[in-house]
Amino acid sequence: MRILVTGGAGFIGSYFVRRLEMSAENEILVYDNLHPQVHGNEAVPPIFGPKVEFIRGDVRDASLLRETIKRFRPNAIAHLASETGTGQSHDEISRYADVNIMGTTYLFEGIRAMGRELDWFLLTSSRAVYGEGAYINSQHRLMANVVRRLGDLEAGRFGVYDSNGLELTSIPSSSIITPTPLSVYAATKLTQEHLARSILSTSNARLLIYRFQNVFGAGQSLINPYTGVLSIFISRLLQGKPIGIYEDGEVSRDFIYVDDVVAAMIAGISRDVRPERPLDIGSGNASKIYDVAIKLARLAGYEGFDLPITGEFRPGDIRHAVADTSYSRSVLEWSPKVSLEEGLERLYVWAKDRISFPS
Ligand SMILES: NC(=O)c1ccc[n+]([C@@H]2O[C@H](COP(=O)([O-])OP(=O)(O)OC[C@H]3O[C@@H](n4cnc5c(N)ncnc54)[C@H](O)[C@@H]3O)[C@@H](O)[C@H]2O)c1
Repeated sequence: MRILVTGGAGFIGSYFVRRLEMSAENEILVYDNLHPQVHGNEAVPPIFGPKVEFIRGDVRDASLLRETIKRFRPNAIAHLASETGTGQSHDEISRYADVNIMGTTYLFEGIRAMGRELDWFLLTSSRAVYGEGAYINSQHRLMANVVRRLGDLEAGRFGVYDSNGLELTSIPSSSIITPTPLSVYAATKLTQEHLARSILSTSNARLLIYRFQNVFGAGQSLINPYTGVLSIFISRLLQGKPIGIYEDGEVSRDFIYVDDVVAAMIAGISRDVRPERPLDIGSGNASKIYDVAIKLARLAGYEGFDLPITGEFRPGDIRHAVADTSYSRSVLEWSPKVSLEEGLERLYVWAKDRISFPS
């Protein structure tokens, strides 16, 4: 296989490329602009083996992308390059659209110009496309497409309510519900999915769309302030900086360790898997961000420690996220293996060698 991986120098991408390298028959080309927000200003590409070529390139550079594809002639593509910050996407709308939407269109133009059919195309989308996700009311009726009103958030009412003001209960979301993006980031990720589906519907290529929950682990950028809540927390804890918990401390997420995410990606490309709908990839467990932050703080040596709950909120942030992974587990014959505790330990051990407490 000749596999092009955009964003292959990033957190998930570099794990994925290292797994691809293990197969003797794979040749890999990583196309990544080493985004300074993720990699810093003095960025160098990750160290890969001899079967991996690295091109420092931007997905917005249509001609470099086209030339690269024409020369390398991939028969499979994993598209991970993306702007990834939910909150930041509201301040930089056109840049997010440019990279995530236009970048994806240039990628497909490059594929068309190559004139060779792909075996598979893997897109890393996000659970963000669900917005608030699925809820039920007190009569157990499914309430999808719910939205939190700014007025409620400003008044410190952070829950998700029906039109009568009754609080709803979060349930796991999966790709059977209609997406309702509530951030610019989410809208661009859903557009990537639509583009991939519409363009590839006229080919035999297998389309694998993965909707990831919160992926974490060793190797996640410790400097990107806009994404990766656990790496932001561990980085601040190790520097002795305060961390605050947004809203009322009840916000929850589905954290999944990066090894499990990459195992799901490898499961999808290694067999003739043709999913009928996007694959939800998460642990299937909702964890309160507050509780996870306390666990991290204990690992970092803070005993008897409490965290301030700030009452702040950010545009585009959602209340609860948890995946219904039943479809992806059966289609991929995959299940996550790394517990939250084990993952946090690995993140901490890795981060403490990179960040020192100021003396
Ligand atoms: N990490 C998560 O929790 C998570 C959750 C849902 C979806 N995703 C998706 O998974 C993918 C990978 O995310 P990640 O966590 O590894 O992020 P990351 O920021 O670590 O990696 C993204 C990579 O893309 C590169 N990149 C960014 N803009 C680019 C551009 N214009 N041209 C070329 N390369 C560019 C960056 O340099 C980086 O190496 C993204 O598509 C993201 O939307 C991630």
